[in-house]
Amino acid sequence: MYIVFEGIDGSGKSTQSKLLKDYLISKGYDVELFVEPTDSDIGRLIRRLLQNPDARSDLMQKTFGLLFAADRMILMKKINDLECKNKVIISDRSFYSSLVYQEPYDWIKEINRYAKQPDLVLLLDMDLKTAVSRSKETDEFENEEFLSSVKEKYLTLARNSSNFKIINANNNLEEVSSDIKRVVDSVFDKN
Ligand code: TYD
Repeated sequence: MYIVFEGIDGSGKSTQSKLLKDYLISKGYDVELFVEPTDSDIGRLIRRLLQNPDARSDLMQKTFGLLFAADRMILMKKINDLECKNKVIISDRSFYSSLVYQEPYDWIKEINRYAKQPDLVLLLDMDLKTAVSRSKETDEFENEEFLSSVKEKYLTLARNSSNFKIINANNNLEEVSSDIKRVVDSVFDKN
């Protein structure tokens, strides 16, 4: 089982992915949690480049598209090995992040052709204002405009993909967590 958290920056993915990991462990599952970008050499390079002032420029976004795809390929090998051992994989972000953050869509899809399809995508959907106020980005206006388009792209993906579940991430932490547990329980019950 490969479960992925998606959502705009500041939507609470890292907190909720850890809470879900603890919950599934308490239910007796063997769980592994990953974060993209990963801790590989490529992932570390990505984190460094993300700090550059021109990180949102078109050329840098193309570079990020390639780097994220490469970082992800390394992760896919690990995920495949762990899934063979019946582990539950939780990941904070996946190729869907590249599809909504980078462009153009068809090219990003192609370079991520070998990325594994998650069984379940938990889309933490949050009001822009709340997410932006939590974000570390300095240029608030530019950031809000960018994240608004990312949010809309996520919702379009969710409407067109049967593995997506939209979670209302504006609620408090406990409510969001119990919504997630309910969705995950129902998916496990079906399998
Ligand atoms: P993340 O660590 O989730 O952000 P934060 O810890 O600041 O909440 O992700 C880092 C940034 O990388 C985030 O702005 C989203 C971006 N990103 C992409 O643009 N494409 C991708 O494929 C991925 C995985 C992340």
